[in-house]
Amino acid sequence: MVVPKIAPSLLSGDFAILASECQRMVDLGADYIHMDVMDGHFVPNLTIGAPVIKSLRPHTKAFLDCHLMVSHPEQWVEDFAKAGADMFTFHYEATDDSLALIKKIHELGMKAGIAIKPKTPVDAIMPLVSHVDMVLVMTVEPGFGGQKFMADCMPKVTTLRKAFPELDIEVDGGLDLTNIDQAAEAGANVIVAGTSIFKAPSPGEVIAAFKKSIQT
Ligand code: DX5
Ligand code: ZN
Repeated sequence: MVVPKIAPSLLSGDFAILASECQRMVDLGADYIHMDVMDGHFVPNLTIGAPVIKSLRPHTKAFLDCHLMVSHPEQWVEDFAKAGADMFTFHYEATDDSLALIKKIHELGMKAGIAIKPKTPVDAIMPLVSHVDMVLVMTVEPGFGGQKFMADCMPKVTTLRKAFPELDIEVDGGLDLTNIDQAAEAGANVIVAGTSIFKAPSPGEVIAAFKKSIQT
């Protein structure tokens, strides 16, 4: 059986106190820390790169789940490996040679994830799934936190779960207590959430509720 993993997105945290935000989430039960890397080209927003991962790394043992919303992700694999990233998730739409990139990520000692945007059909990545450690099904158009969950992406999760019972399937974008059950029923087990965790009066309760929903 797949294990639930909750991955708070630090995009909704305070970048000025990144290390303590990270620790706070770990203390509240986070399994992964989701780091959103945006280049202002693949997506219309600009966030952080490998230097920030490098600065954060000595402050935490947490699993750093790096989501690269960048063009030419192959350009950054070495930098992220050196910086101490645990998982390098790239977008299928951003590269011409996913298999070569997956190989490079693994050679450099990181886990490899492949992400698809809402309009990308799941069939496009089916031949690649057995090569990766995780698939990320975006549930908003990548680029910004705080958007509305797109339930019409759930059939892609269902298809993946049917074909790959043991696969880590991550969903990212607009996840909250009103839609977690839909994601869990479809078969998602890795839950990214920014707004619904960081803006909650009791973020730990939200993390616990997400976990419970995946387990039941
Ligand atoms: C969006 C990012 C998400 C985002 C999620 O492009 O990939 O990880 O931070 O934030 P919420 O949960 O607010 O949608
Ligand atoms: Zn993300």
